[in-house]
Amino acid sequence: MKDQIINLKNEAVGEILEAKSLEELEKIRINFLGRSGKINSLIKGISQLPAEEKRAIGQLINDTKKTIEESLQQTQESLKIKESKTEWLDITAPGLRPAEGHLHLVSEAISEITAIFSQLGFHRARYPEVEWDWYAFEGLNMAENHPARDEWETFFIDKLQNKKYGRGILTPHTSSGQLREMEKYTPPIRMINIAKCYRRQSDVSHSPMFYQFEGLVIDKGISITHLKGTLDFFVRNYFGPERKIRIRPFHFQFTEPSFEVDISCGLCQGKGCNFCKEGWLELGGSGMVHPKVLKNGNIDPAIYSGFAFGWGVERTLMMKSGLKIEDIRLLYSNDLRFLRQF
Ligand code: FA5
Repeated sequence: MKDQIINLKNEAVGEILEAKSLEELEKIRINFLGRSGKINSLIKGISQLPAEEKRAIGQLINDTKKTIEESLQQTQESLKIKESKTEWLDITAPGLRPAEGHLHLVSEAISEITAIFSQLGFHRARYPEVEWDWYAFEGLNMAENHPARDEWETFFIDKLQNKKYGRGILTPHTSSGQLREMEKYTPPIRMINIAKCYRRQSDVSHSPMFYQFEGLVIDKGISITHLKGTLDFFVRNYFGPERKIRIRPFHFQFTEPSFEVDISCGLCQGKGCNFCKEGWLELGGSGMVHPKVLKNGNIDPAIYSGFAFGWGVERTLMMKSGLKIEDIRLLYSNDLRFLRQF
């Protein structure tokens, strides 16, 4: 029995020294010191021994147990240090990249649009989102109850009333900045007003809050040629040199004549395809500033003329080739899964 105990001790200490992980060490502990481990089965055998041997063998088993426990503890400590080192102190491990954001798609588009028009000498303006009826309708040749107003599905603010300027509204278009610009500056005027607009509309191509960019140029001798040239310059710079524009007759109360502006389709280069049907996509409205509007802005229409255009920022952005945004409202959903794609 004595030899058996000494062999067991050597076997245990040998295995403990060879252990490569805390997990392996725990298995060794259970094998030798566990309830049904090897030491306990030795203890059980003591009762079979002659009385004179019992004491000495019992003492030997206790010493062996103590030796095994001590060597388990030592190895456990060194393995703990080793394992924590591989987990936390591996200086060769690559660093964690901090989350990096970027400007919202619409903010990027606004900067790009501003930069293109600034090359032609347009200055960036911003006029109130909470506006008076006068600036958005009445002063733009849309008298109270005029049916043309229906197009602008406007939000009215019950508590805001002004004797001179009428009801308070959330501006439904950036054209409300035209008269404000005329009040502020004398011609020559070259304004690009980019601001939030609000309409009671919500579907895949309409958002209740959206941005428009409004161009206004007033000077002596301004004609449709200047309007076409300016829009052409913008489209080539924003969409690419291969894209073309055309203007189609339309009607707005505050411009005469008025036009819708179309851009050649980026997918079929104007030939006609399933997406565009006839080769053209609608961009927005434009026209020559109505003489009545110039008068309302204290500018003499006998001396000055001007052009204006107003397009949606989101729709313009969505027409850029390579961008397939199926629902305009996604832009304002604050869904990071959507935003991180750009
Ligand atoms: C206007 O708002 C005129 N003020 C444009 C104008 C300016 C004409 C200057 C002449 C001279 P319209 O309602 O068509 O026009 O809107 C212009 C553009 O705004 C649309 O082509 C579209 O791109 C965008 N838009 C209008 N409503 C929404 C909406 N609910 N959501 C997103 N974009 C919209």
